Amino acid sequence: MRVKQARAPFATDPRVVADEAAAVAAAWSAPGSPSSWRLTAAQFEVLRDDQELLAIAAMIPPDKLPALLFQAAAAFLVLESEPQPLRDFFPRPGEPQPPLDARFRDEYRSFCLEHRDRLLELSATHRYQMNEVGRCAGLVPALAAAGAAERELALVDVGTGAGLALQFDRYSYHFNGPGGQVRTAGDPDSAVRIETEVRGGAPPPLPARLPRVSERIGIDVEPLDVRDPEVRAWLAACIPQEIGAVTRFHHAVDVVTREPAQMVRGDVGDVLAGVLEAIPTERLVCLTDTYVNVFFAAEQLRSFRALVADAGATRDLDWVSIDPLVPLGASASDNVLGLPTPPALVERNRRDGVFGVVGRLAYRDGHRSGGLLGLAHPGAAWLEWLAG
Ligand SMILES: C[S@@+](CC[C@H](N)C(=O)[O-])C[C@H]1O[C@@H](n2cnc3c(N)ncnc32)[C@H](O)[C@@H]1O
Repeated sequence: MRVKQARAPFATDPRVVADEAAAVAAAWSAPGSPSSWRLTAAQFEVLRDDQELLAIAAMIPPDKLPALLFQAAAAFLVLESEPQPLRDFFPRPGEPQPPLDARFRDEYRSFCLEHRDRLLELSATHRYQMNEVGRCAGLVPALAAAGAAERELALVDVGTGAGLALQFDRYSYHFNGPGGQVRTAGDPDSAVRIETEVRGGAPPPLPARLPRVSERIGIDVEPLDVRDPEVRAWLAACIPQEIGAVTRFHHAVDVVTREPAQMVRGDVGDVLAGVLEAIPTERLVCLTDTYVNVFFAAEQLRSFRALVADAGATRDLDWVSIDPLVPLGASASDNVLGLPTPPALVERNRRDGVFGVVGRLAYRDGHRSGGLLGLAHPGAAWLEWLAG
């Protein structure tokens, strides 16, 4: 009698995992991206094209972002066990991005298959937690546009993770424009050097000096303490294995370790009002959110917007957001701030894959204004400022 082979109990349809892997590869390493992003794209492409690897990643539930979590777990194991020659394809902080060659695909695939059980164990016990300090490159011109340099800022970073954005004024920024023109901002002596290529028509506005920050408060359902070596190692595996991202992450972690900020554990919907009430009303509150509100369900996003509007009725406040259009993915049609979304952006997101939209809502004396300001690569490779 032929025994019917049981179907693998996938938590996620492998085709969904393949689509997620394809979308991430396209977003992070779109045509024209620096070649240092090729390794990141290659990791996702190997997964996308391989039924055996997809079958492993498909054991991860969809809400845990299987393609991203699988890739983070694999990077964690490579960085931990340093298998050769695979390890040498991955960057080391401060060194050049290693070249990628044809051996990578087979080496990476075999390593993942050999480590199937550890990959699943890590995926079961961890979440995908990307903390990309480079996103501060989009915050800086948004704050300049806010005229925030004139007032002391109470910075409240929603979904702060390890709190890297809370130290945005302690980093050095290099905006590389056309024809080799470089504009800088921030602390020129900082070890955290954030470089981004400026694309498109309008140059991003840069403040002569960054705003003075009087309060630094991070809110997260699960704040991350990078002083714990295990936390640090996991976060290092979650960031894209691109040399700029890897190097600035390690330096930013050193800054955060030296300059701990106030962290509030909780769902932002539950704790935001209390956090704002404790901040003196003469301060300009700047709520920042990078790649947080995009993951909110529609109802959660509506109530977050209402919370911000309530607070803005009683005090001056900015909400600066860098989030992809929502709902996340090719069918996106709206932005998290709830401002009108130009059809050209919707079309570009559908055609080119996900990018961050830099936007700002301002409340002054109870009046609301705002706009979409720019577009940003998810890992800070480029920034495009919108004219007008
Ligand atoms: C994709 S990470 C982004 C981290 C960081 N902002 C960045 O851009 O590098 C999203 C973060 O938001 C947090 N988060 C998600 N939902 C939240 C909520 N309802 N309240 C507070 N934090 C939340 C997660 O725990 C996670 O640390």
